[in-house]
Amino acid sequence: MSRTVYVNGAYVPEEDAKISVFDRGFLFADGVYEVCSVLQGKLLETEGHVTRLHRSLNELDIAAPCSDEELLGAMEKLVADNGVDEGLVYLQVTRGAADRDFAYPKDAKPSLVMFTQKKNLLTDPVAEKGVAVITLPDLRWARRDIKTVGLLYPCMAKMEAKAKGAQDAWLLDDDGFVTEGTSNNAYIVTADDKIVTRQLSNSILHGITRRSILAIAQELGMVVEERPFTPAEAYAAKEAFTTSASSFAMPVISIDENIIASGKPGEVTKKLRDKYIELSLSA
Ligand code: PDD
Repeated sequence: MSRTVYVNGAYVPEEDAKISVFDRGFLFADGVYEVCSVLQGKLLETEGHVTRLHRSLNELDIAAPCSDEELLGAMEKLVADNGVDEGLVYLQVTRGAADRDFAYPKDAKPSLVMFTQKKNLLTDPVAEKGVAVITLPDLRWARRDIKTVGLLYPCMAKMEAKAKGAQDAWLLDDDGFVTEGTSNNAYIVTADDKIVTRQLSNSILHGITRRSILAIAQELGMVVEERPFTPAEAYAAKEAFTTSASSFAMPVISIDENIIASGKPGEVTKKLRDKYIELSLSA
C-alpha cells in the first residue's frame, strides 16, 4: 500500500510526491534533515530534533518552512495516516528551487518534505547480535555538526564496510582519533568501566540520542568521559556501541576484525538501551 508523503503543505500518495529539479537540495545538497523515531505510535525526542533542526537551518541561513506547531502536527498526522506503530519519520528542509547559482537565492521558498518508514526498533535482531565495524578516514566536510543531506561519503564508507564483511564504519580524524560512525555517535567502555565518547564540536553531529544516553548513564551512576579515543583503545575496550534515533544504543562486537571482549553485546550497552526504551515508552 502506498504511503502518504508530506510535500510543502500537501499530503499526497508517494507516487505523486515530487520536488522541482531546480531544488537546491537536489543540485547542491543545500538542505538539512532530521530522523525521529516512533514507538507505539508516539514520536520520540521531538523537542531535541526540532531544536537541532533550527540550529542546522540557522547555520545555513535557511528560513524555517513553517512553525514548530505545524511541523509537529504534520509529523503526527503522517504517523497516524500511515499507521506507523514502530519506525521513523524522516524530514528534510531545503533552501528551495531557484535557477542554478552557487550564491544563495534571495527569494527561494524553503521546501519541506516528510515521509515515514516502518522499522522494528524494539525487537531488532541486529541489536540483539551487535554489529561489526571497520575504521576509515573521515573524509566528510568540517561542519559535521550541521545535519546536512550531503551524505555521499557516509554512503561510500558503509559500502566499503559491507564489502569487508562489516555493517558500518567508524571514521577517523587526521590525528587517528574516532570522530563518530557514518550515521551514529561512537562509544567505548574502558576496562575501568568508563564510558568514553568524543566531546561535542564541529567534528561530530550533536546526537539527540547521545544526549539522552549520557544523561541516563549518569543517572545510573556510570562514569562518562567526553574525549577522543583511538581504534587501539577501542580494540582493547570492554564494550563498544553506537547511538542514533534509528537504533537507540547498538552494540558493536568487532572493530577492524578485532573482537571486542566476548564478541557479544555488553552489559552497559544493554542497560543503557533498555533504560532508554523504558523511559521513551513511559514519557
Ligand atoms: N543519523 N552522527 C551522524 C553522522 C548521524 O548521521 C546521526 C544520525 C547521529 C546520531 O544522531 P541522533 O541520535 O540525533 O539520531 C550521529 C540518522 C539517524 C540518519 O542519518 O539516518
